[in-house]
Amino acid sequence: MSSKYNPLFEGFTFKSGVRLENRILMAPMTNFASEENGVVSDEELVYYKERSGGVGAVVTAVAYVIRGGKGFVNQIGADSDDKIPGLKRLADTIKGEGAKAILQIFHAGRMAPPELLEDGQSVSASAVAAPRPGLVTPRELTETEIEEIIQAFGDAARRAIQAGFDGVEIHGANTYLIQQFFSPHSNRRTDKWGGTIEKRMAFPLAVIDSVKAAVKEHAKDPFVFGYRISPEEMENPGITMDDTLPFVDTLAEQELDYLSVSVQDFWQGSIRDEQDKKSRVLLIQERVGNKVPVIGVGSLYTPEDVKKALDTGVPLLALGRELIIEPKWVQKVEAGETGTIATSLTKDDQERLKVPDVLWSTIMKTPGWFPVED
Ligand SMILES: Cc1cc2nc3c(=O)[nH]c(=O)nc-3n(C[C@H](O)[C@H](O)[C@H](O)COP(=O)(O)O)c2cc1C
Repeated sequence: MSSKYNPLFEGFTFKSGVRLENRILMAPMTNFASEENGVVSDEELVYYKERSGGVGAVVTAVAYVIRGGKGFVNQIGADSDDKIPGLKRLADTIKGEGAKAILQIFHAGRMAPPELLEDGQSVSASAVAAPRPGLVTPRELTETEIEEIIQAFGDAARRAIQAGFDGVEIHGANTYLIQQFFSPHSNRRTDKWGGTIEKRMAFPLAVIDSVKAAVKEHAKDPFVFGYRISPEEMENPGITMDDTLPFVDTLAEQELDYLSVSVQDFWQGSIRDEQDKKSRVLLIQERVGNKVPVIGVGSLYTPEDVKKALDTGVPLLALGRELIIEPKWVQKVEAGETGTIATSLTKDDQERLKVPDVLWSTIMKTPGWFPVED
């Protein structure tokens, strides 16, 4: 391996004590391959086994913490104790290849397609529909339901611990329920869960406390606890950096192992203002300094791309699409075979790359999402 890539292979120890062998994680990616009832499937295990041999950690596809929070067809569930054996197979598969296993958990809120829900009715902070086709106006959650969902996050974390995961990541990004509480678009509440920015932070912080309590009570070994945010949203009113920077100040005080920033491109500027070109990941890194480690992500296809991103001072980087396209990305860099790293798909690659059926067909019918050769 060329010594210029040595920084990618430095170990990293989280505050909790969990150590990663290198600086690369697999980004959380929904794979639409669990059983219809949310149990982990064999197809999914094959896909993860193929990708868990080089990275320091794998963050799984997001799992729902309660049935009403399901957001995708064939999504993993972490909503009941009977899911623990399947979750254990997933954790064992990832850890068996050498990576740390981190379960991402969420509630889809108003982003849930109604046909996936038992009563066809999504819920959110307020009864305001997301401006996306096919979604219904959600029902506003009652205070009791909010408390139940907060508890469900803690219960899901407990199940992750019992299943042998090395950590959990709260999915507070990509417009799902936790973000919906923080957003002035989806949260119009006037009780303790909405209004000022502090009140819009109350639900994310309560979820953090619930997970923290579960970790304290159940984890016998060091356990990673991460949080993912989206820096901005398109909606008006919507989350801007004026909301996000004070929020990350608060998140940096929560004793998290990491803060993961969800963007499509590491270098991407504002999605709200074309003139504002400064990388959102770097704005957040500059704001938190070394108070909490940041995970950057987004269109880092080559080792050069990753090296350049690490050189900015962001300590950890996640690869998503890149690991679907090239499962042996990390091993190839380590072996000095960077010239053989694939950065695009061909239509015939599904079997070789062990990509689940619905994920593959979704990739193929979504133009521009992945680089695909003709
Ligand atoms: C197929 C697919 C599924 C995704 N599912 C999730 C998910 O479950 N949770 C999440 O936080 N982000 C999800 N993402 C976003 C990725 O984690 C990542 O932020 C994004 O793809 C940009 O990184 P990349 O350029 O390395 O792919 C998904 C992305 C892809 C391509």
